[in-house]
Amino acid sequence: MTKKIIAANWKMNKTNKEAKKFFKEFNPKTKNDIMFFVPFTMLSTVKKEGYMTGAQNFYHAKNGAFTGEISLEMIAETGACSVLVGHSERRTLFRETDEMCNLKIKAALERGYCVVYCIGETLAEREGNKTEAVLKKQIQKGLKDVTVHNHLIIAYEPVWAIGTGLTATVEQIRDTHAYIKTLVDVPLLYGGSANEKNCKEIFSIPNVDGALVGGASLDPVKFSQMVGYDK
Ligand code: PGA
Repeated sequence: MTKKIIAANWKMNKTNKEAKKFFKEFNPKTKNDIMFFVPFTMLSTVKKEGYMTGAQNFYHAKNGAFTGEISLEMIAETGACSVLVGHSERRTLFRETDEMCNLKIKAALERGYCVVYCIGETLAEREGNKTEAVLKKQIQKGLKDVTVHNHLIIAYEPVWAIGTGLTATVEQIRDTHAYIKTLVDVPLLYGGSANEKNCKEIFSIPNVDGALVGGASLDPVKFSQMVGYDK
């Protein structure tokens, strides 16, 4: 199997103490690329373990009166070189729009970050046959005026599959990834209840270049298995 990009999204989970315990038990035997998107307070801790790290959020401005926000320059100090943009939890819970995603993507790419841009449809949109239109809009608006794509990754995460235990079917992933590749030709991750049991099948689908993993990435044994643990 060709090398995959496997990104953990820890969301708002774990303390530094818990992260250190995780890495005592995390034992991947793999040639896959592993990235950890962890809370800001843990970025340095995880970097010290020797893994690529990324921030789950940031503000696009360089600096200034933006109480509570974190800039890309501040994130760079931790050694992180990637950022997540457009996760469905940020879009729904924190009202982030495609336009806000676009500002973030442009700022991060300009500063040399690798950007993982998340897109995905809701269940109502899929059932209403609107999946392709929704993804096209998220890509067109999110990537407006973005001309250089070599540090860009897209994560296709059907909203209805995130944290629900429901995974998109092989056919749904195959068709949707093929469609997204016609719009933008960059590495494409699948996300939404991916775990150590279903990852082999998901990774064998054409145009799946890796996975963005929430729940299953919190468990060191499961995540080791997912990224290629072969004990
Ligand atoms: P999940 O989360 O693997 O728990 O469904 C994926 C994500 O939100 O990126």
